[in-house]
Amino acid sequence: MTEQDKKLPLLVVGSVNMDLVMQLPKVPQGGETLLGQRYSYVPGGKGANQAVAAARLDMEVTFVGKIGADAHGSHLKECLEQEGIATRYLLSDTGDQTGFAAIFVEADGQNRIVVFPGANMAIQEQEVAAVFAGSPAGWAAVLINLEIPQSIVLEVCRLAREKDLPIILDAGPIRDLDFTLLHGLEIISPNETETQAITGIECRGVDDAVEAAGRLVRITQSRYAVIKLGERGALIYDAEQDQPEYIKGYPVQAVDSTAAGDAFTAAMTAHFLRYGELAEAVRYANAAGALAVTRLGAQPSLPTGEQVRTFVRERGLEIFGV
Ligand code: RIB
Repeated sequence: MTEQDKKLPLLVVGSVNMDLVMQLPKVPQGGETLLGQRYSYVPGGKGANQAVAAARLDMEVTFVGKIGADAHGSHLKECLEQEGIATRYLLSDTGDQTGFAAIFVEADGQNRIVVFPGANMAIQEQEVAAVFAGSPAGWAAVLINLEIPQSIVLEVCRLAREKDLPIILDAGPIRDLDFTLLHGLEIISPNETETQAITGIECRGVDDAVEAAGRLVRITQSRYAVIKLGERGALIYDAEQDQPEYIKGYPVQAVDSTAAGDAFTAAMTAHFLRYGELAEAVRYANAAGALAVTRLGAQPSLPTGEQVRTFVRERGLEIFGV
């Protein structure tokens, strides 16, 4: 086994939800009742999705989050453990229900999501402090999202900075947060709507994305911004070099875009930590995100390393390390 084949340890801090996925031809208008085609319950939550995606892409993942003391919570915990994810910091809150998301998926794969955060919002600062105090600073990085309390996001960033750990922030969902407080991220990665909420710039084309990414790195003093542009791919901005780079996406037949962004962020993180080449990591992430779009549901749609390698081979793509 070479150094690069070793599983890198990653700390993921974030949300865990039970998703109710309803497939329907189109979402209802106000006052309208429609018949859906089918529904299913699937494990989700941005943090848990990113943890599962990273584990399937050969990272050694420890997850920090909170569930309720209910059937959904214990099922979601089991799902994480089946992926080989360490759950000793997935705490249970007896007063709150486990996070839940209602997801409507239209025929073209577009989704609309409403999240009930429940126990995700009950994570306490002393609990995350205990994670960092109780562990050797052996993680390669910390991956975090915004589906948990803002005070926890800020505290995790502070603790990670103290230990010199690179922080990768998936800046979803949209939150009314003072992003200047997040200074010193390695990578900030919002999607287009999150980018607009943070910067005020709508990414209609690559030029807008370049302007928005420049603003993102200035606001958050991040080393890199990576704006997820859906099927169009992603825009990287390297603050040190003052250098933008647009990386095209790979077209696929969309079934459901849920968790495609989570697959992207986790794959980018895994590849970047392994090889240190962000543009190559984003190509790899585009492949993982494209695969996730071709399948229904959050965690069931997240590809394994082998599935990404097959996709890359079948499409004749050249991505470093794959
Ligand atoms: O990113 C997709 C996720 O957003 C879903 O799994 C849902 O739980 C919401 O958190």
